Amino acid sequence: MRIAMIGTGYVGLVSGACFSEFGVHVTCVDKDAGKIERLKNGEIPIYEPGLDDLVARNVAAGRLSFTMDLKEAMQGVDAVFIAVGTPSRRGDGHADLSYVYGAAEEIAQHLDHYTVVVTKSTVPVGTGREVEAIIRRVRPEAEFDVASNPEFLREGSAIGDFMRPDRVVIGATSDRAGEVMRRLYRPLYLIETPIVVTSLETAELTKYAANTFLAAKITFINEIADLCEKVGANVHDVARGIGLDGRIGKKFLHPGPGYGGSCFPKDTLALVRTAQQVGSPLRIIETVVDINDKRKKQMAERIIAACGGSVDGKTVAVLGVAFKPNTDDMRDSPSLDIVPALQAAGAHVRAFDPAAMHEAEKLLPGVEWAKDAYGTLEGADCVAILTEWNEFRALDLRRVKSMLKRPVMIDLRNIYNPEDMAKAGFTYTSIGRPS
Ligand code: UGA
Repeated sequence: MRIAMIGTGYVGLVSGACFSEFGVHVTCVDKDAGKIERLKNGEIPIYEPGLDDLVARNVAAGRLSFTMDLKEAMQGVDAVFIAVGTPSRRGDGHADLSYVYGAAEEIAQHLDHYTVVVTKSTVPVGTGREVEAIIRRVRPEAEFDVASNPEFLREGSAIGDFMRPDRVVIGATSDRAGEVMRRLYRPLYLIETPIVVTSLETAELTKYAANTFLAAKITFINEIADLCEKVGANVHDVARGIGLDGRIGKKFLHPGPGYGGSCFPKDTLALVRTAQQVGSPLRIIETVVDINDKRKKQMAERIIAACGGSVDGKTVAVLGVAFKPNTDDMRDSPSLDIVPALQAAGAHVRAFDPAAMHEAEKLLPGVEWAKDAYGTLEGADCVAILTEWNEFRALDLRRVKSMLKRPVMIDLRNIYNPEDMAKAGFTYTSIGRPS
């Protein structure tokens, strides 16, 4: 089988590479000449474990290639995937669909045989129908069907999530399109992955429902964590105690500084806007958005409180600025609220992140960047862990203590144990646990 994948961002590049690993011939297309050039030279523009090997292997096997030429990429394909960005529109929080519709216009111009036009980007309900209408308008005689195939992969574990998903969701407008989609995912039948075949609208909404539900789950445990602190309970035991109930489930009950990243903040807001627009408001998600925004801002106050109520003139060592480990992605990272708030309160921030510093330099001016975790510590008044990178989990605590001016640690990801930290002589603050 043969496909074209438009957009070489996270979703497009990972999906393209993974489909080629399934044995499909994939041509990835992007308008960014520099990016295509780098990809052709084997350079991967994002940090995603395992992606470089996967791309190299499939390029060498002749199944994966990169081009700026959509016409050439669409020759003889069974399907063309739209995997371009759908950022929040400035001002109103709706998803900006200009890239998706732009891609539809271009696809229309090059359709010369039956092709399934698949939206993989996260798009509001109704987008697939609009893609269909655009193509029909440009090319009334063209032979095509539209389909929706939302992607559920997580940054940092994207390849595993694509190759061994909990499910695949396909919204198809005809049996013929559904059949093409099923054939593309054939290797997953071997591992008995459930395939949910449904309407276009249902598939589109399923993606948003999944992300907003997970965002709500995280926000729930974050609020329970705050309550635990007030009543002397332990949030991890509560999470385990409820998560073992199969109806609730154990995952996504880890408390933290608030969810960030390229998906949850954008998708919660977009679904809220869609729901308001059609007169069926999602009040739970409206509240989730509000709580999470406030939470990220409140985190700086926790750090300031742990430093005795003021950080004016003090140095705060920050470990991790990416929104989560194993990525260099800074989008909507809690650090973007926390670090500037610390600086505004008079702190000097010295920080380190294993992958995101290059990106973070542009977004967090005034930060002194260290070469490694220990490089942040010398003479600092406290150390705050903002991202749970593995390399921060096993720090030499004696060394940390000897380098800090005061042995104060604020662990916003709960990667250390309060008892161990007390034994090691630290004043330790974490989330939702008795200290
Ligand atoms: C998320 C979804 O998990 C994917 O299924 C989805 O495909 C993706 O969005 C998308 O729409 O493209 P991602 O944003 O990569 O994936 O990262 P997650 O691992 O879901 O983490 C999101 C945020 O929630 C992070 O800030 C993380 O720290 C936070 N989180 C996650 C918690 O605070 N607690 C948890 O228990 C889990």
